[in-house]
Formats: sequence, C-alpha cells, structure tokens
Amino acid sequence: MCGIVGVTGNDNAVSILLEGLQKLEYRGYDSAGIYVNDLKGNDYLVKEKGRISDLKAAVTPDVHGVAGIGHTRWATHGVVSVANAHPQFSEDHRFYLVHNGVIENFKELKSQYLSDTTFESQTDTEVVVQLLDKFVRTENLSTKDAFTKTLSLLEGSSYGFLLVDSEDPDTLYVAKNKSPLLIGVGDGFNVVCSDAVAMLKETHDFLELHDGEVVTIKPDEILIEDQNGNKVERDTFHLDMDAEETDKGPYPYYMLKEVDEQPNVMRKLASTYTDESGKDTLDPELVDAIKSADRIHIVGAGTSYHAGLVGKKMFEKLTHIPTEVHVASEFAYDDPLLTKNPFFIFLSQSGETADSREVLVNVNARGFKSLTITNVANSTLSREANYTLLLHAGPEISVASTKAYTAQIAVEAILAKAVGMAKEQVTAEDFDVRQQLGLAATGMQAIIDEKETIEDLAKEYFVNATRAFYIGRGIDQTVSLESALKLKEISYVQAEGFASGELKHGTIALIEEGTPVVGIITQAKTAGLTRSNLQETLSRGAQTLTIARNGLKKDDDTIIIPDIDEMITPLLSVVPAQLLAYYTSLNKGLDVDRPRNLAKSVTVE
Ligand code: F6R
Repeated sequence: MCGIVGVTGNDNAVSILLEGLQKLEYRGYDSAGIYVNDLKGNDYLVKEKGRISDLKAAVTPDVHGVAGIGHTRWATHGVVSVANAHPQFSEDHRFYLVHNGVIENFKELKSQYLSDTTFESQTDTEVVVQLLDKFVRTENLSTKDAFTKTLSLLEGSSYGFLLVDSEDPDTLYVAKNKSPLLIGVGDGFNVVCSDAVAMLKETHDFLELHDGEVVTIKPDEILIEDQNGNKVERDTFHLDMDAEETDKGPYPYYMLKEVDEQPNVMRKLASTYTDESGKDTLDPELVDAIKSADRIHIVGAGTSYHAGLVGKKMFEKLTHIPTEVHVASEFAYDDPLLTKNPFFIFLSQSGETADSREVLVNVNARGFKSLTITNVANSTLSREANYTLLLHAGPEISVASTKAYTAQIAVEAILAKAVGMAKEQVTAEDFDVRQQLGLAATGMQAIIDEKETIEDLAKEYFVNATRAFYIGRGIDQTVSLESALKLKEISYVQAEGFASGELKHGTIALIEEGTPVVGIITQAKTAGLTRSNLQETLSRGAQTLTIARNGLKKDDDTIIIPDIDEMITPLLSVVPAQLLAYYTSLNKGLDVDRPRNLAKSVTVE
C-alpha cells in the first residue's frame, strides 16, 4: 500500500527510482512522483496522476539526479491528484517527504502548529513535512532533530517516511512505525525501499529497520539510532532472490504466471518441509508448541483468511484441537474468549498486513505463542511471531492472490499432519501429505492445461454478467468465498460465495434469468445436496456450471478436477475459479494485475 524508494550516491538515481517504482506499482497506482537532486545545485520534482508509465513519460531528459526519493500512491487522505501525490514538500521547498501510512492526528497538528502555513495538498503527509520545516526554522533544530521531534508528535500513527533536505541532498532520513521499510546496501551508494523487489537490480544486501528507529543514510554510511538516540549495530541480510523472478517473462499478466507456478510451489513445499519417507522436517519445538495448545486461532485477511478456513478443517481433523478462524480486522472487536493455552497462526502473503499485525501485537502483549506463515522472509509478521514458516512461492506481484492461497493451504496441511502425528491421531497417520501434494501438483497442471476451455466458459458465462454466485458445502463453501473474491476483485462482477443450502433462505431472490451459478462439488457427503441446490437456481433461470471432482462426476458437469484427498480439494477446485476470474477480467479489457481501488499489501488498518 504505497511504495517508497530512495537512493543516494548513484549517478543513475532517476532510473533507479523509476525502475524501483515500476516494481512497486502493485502497491499503489493512483499517482506517483520523484524528487531528485544532482548535488550541483539543481533539483527536480516530477509528479503525475496515473501509472508509473505516465510518470516516466513526464520525466524529461534534463532531469538528472545523484540522490532522490520516489513514491507510488494508494490514496488514503486526499483525492487522487498531482497536488496530493508524493513527494510532499515544505512551503519553502527545502524538505521533500514520501510517506506510507496514516497520520491519525494530522488535523490536530495542523491547527496547533501550522495555522499560518499555506498548504498545497489535502494530505496528512504535507502536515508532517511542513511541521518539521517549521521546527528547523523557528527552533533552529537540525534536520534530524526536527524530524525526530516531529515523529514524537505523531500519535497512534502508522508510517514509513523517507525525507530529504535539499540543502544537504545526499543525506536521506528514514523512520518507520508499523509500516515496512528496508535499507539496501550498494557499492558506494545506498538505497531505501518499502519492498526488496524494488531494488534487487541494485543490491541483494539489506538492513531491516525496527519501529521507532531513525536512520541517517549517506552514500557510504548508514547510521541507525533508537528512540533515545543510541547507535544501533545491525548486520545486513542477504536476499537470495533473482531480479528476474519479479519479471513477467512471456506472460501478459503476472496473475497468469502466478497461477501457472502453482504446481511447482506444491512440489517445492513438499520437498522443503517433508523428507522422502514423507515425515515432516519442521522445527520440533514448533510442533510441540501447537501440540500442547488447547485451541488454535488462525488469523488472516481476504484470501489469507479464506486459506485459514480450509486450515481449520485440516487442523480439527488431523489434530483434534478445536480451531477458530478470525478476520484480522475484526479480532479486536470480537473480543474472543480465550482459553488457557491458545496458539495463534497468522497467515499473510506479504507479512505486512496492518490488520493482522495489530492482532499479533495484542497476542504478544498477552504472552501467547504464535507462528506466521508468510511468503516474505524478514517481514514484520515474521519477525514478531515466535515461529515462521515460509511459503516458498516466489514473489507474488499480481494484486489478486493465487499461489499464496494454495501455498498457505499446503503448509497448513503439512503442519496439521505433523502435529496430528505428534498426537498419534489415526487421521494424521492415514494422510500422506507428501503424496497428496504431489497429486495436487499434477492435478493443477492438468487443469492449467485446459486454460482455453476455461477461457471459453468465462466468455460465455461471466464477461457479460453483472452478478454471479459460487456455491458449495463444507470445505467447498470456503472455496466458493475465495472464488467469488477473485472474480469480483479483478472483473468487477458482483459475486458472492455461498453455503449452497443457505441460498433458499433469502439470497435465491437475487437469481434472475441468466445469472451464472457455479457449484463446487468435491465432497462425497454433500455432492447430491449441492447438485439439488444448483437445480433450484436453474429452475429460477440461472445458468449453472459445476467444478466437480472426477470421482463424483456426472455427464453434464462443466469442469472436472482430478481426484485427491477430500480434505485438500481446495488446492484443485480453486484453480478453475482463478482462471475464470482471470479470463473474465482479460476479456473485459481490464487491467488484471492492478484492479481499481486496490493495492497489494495493505499496511493501513
Ligand atoms: C485478494 C488479496 C487480499 C489479501 C489480503 C491479505 O486477492 O490478495 O485479499 O489476501 O489483503 O494480504 P496478506 O496475505 O498479504 O496478509
């Protein structure tokens, strides 16, 4: 949610910033801007509404810089406009600031300190940069002291800040609270980014920052100080990721690439977390901590929450530990009754989702044990939980999550099996997770190979639809939620995932002539019931389709998915739904990877 980049000490500052922003565009794509300084007395501020391509087009050849900062925006405070795009700057054009997050008390700060100041934007960020400028001018503070003082006034706020003082332009100032920021260490230069993918072409060595620290960065020096001004020593970590992994390759959109990568992710997870005999290779301490829990709580948002719903079924079946799943943003308000020894599992592709992080802070404060299952090593949720399991899915760039969902389910399956085995549960002994993940990989590939048929279905049923339903029972119902989310977020067809038996209790009133209704049928126990519920919609004018497991297939089924253990059928049943959503969006001429109003990695609550 908003992307931040910065560089100091590199003659290619402009292209480093623009290429970095291009990589971060999935984090926000309302507007973007850069400020650069050539250290010879010239500086340039370029901001544009729209995509990074619009910004690139606006950067003229005379724009040259050795140091600078950049930003791609997902609007929170203030409409989408050039004035509200970042960098924001002080009245005297001395300070330039980019920001990710929300300043809760910006109105109070504005009226208390800045009643005489002229503002150009409606943003909370401008208040911050004007305020620190005022402290420099009126209290004769150094830039760093004014920055620190300003930070101390920001109540209950989330921020990642990157500041530059045009009077000392090769020094960058950085601070963060609840919002991700990394420093990248280059050869004779340094960079800043809100996600390492932005700077992988420049460096693979990064320094993580902690909340409350203030960092001063020069081309050959990085000074980290804690809240009390004490110097902090921190080692860099090496990120073993190819810059090419973040390229689209021959694919028209990242989403299709990421759907196609799912079979390999299954294989990778099987070989990473199990040995050839099928036994898990997980940290025994983690398995023990879950084994001794009297309740498991899974926390996530959006697609990750949906993966948690599948996880609940697996944990309860294989470990017999009661399991609850929580929408992260609701957890604090649900006030769930907690048992004596709960264990928390956080599911988050990005590892940065603010809603989930808020729950983790609460869980840590109460001394409960936790695990984060994430795709991003060193992410905030990973650092702050007791344990981490990585998804090993490779970067997920498309805003609509696909491979992270199936990877989360696979990791949950491996973990539930391990804990079940430790508890000597027969259900766990009977579940060969390594073999099942192998079957999932092959099954996914078989579905992906039928892309063209699925595209035809998308054109026939969804491209002209305004409303659609996915229905199912039990685990199929959880997949219906995820399938509907995929369709609505990238194709703007209003879609609902529904418990098929519940339709007749009200929602069936929405079925009209031609409304597409997809039944997901993978469970022997409920197949007949879901088919009856589909019939009920057919009788009311719906166009029905089915995604059915081979062993349960009927002659008129639409999409057949291969057989696999019933507990992990979501790994397969979701794939046609991902592709239906993809092709609907594509054939409507929409930007599949960057749907309107959204951003990847939601770092505000
Ligand atoms: C939907 C989607 C979102 C995310 C949600 C949580 O396709 O991607 O619903 O799943 O914002 O994000 P993470 O998993 O990064 O915590």
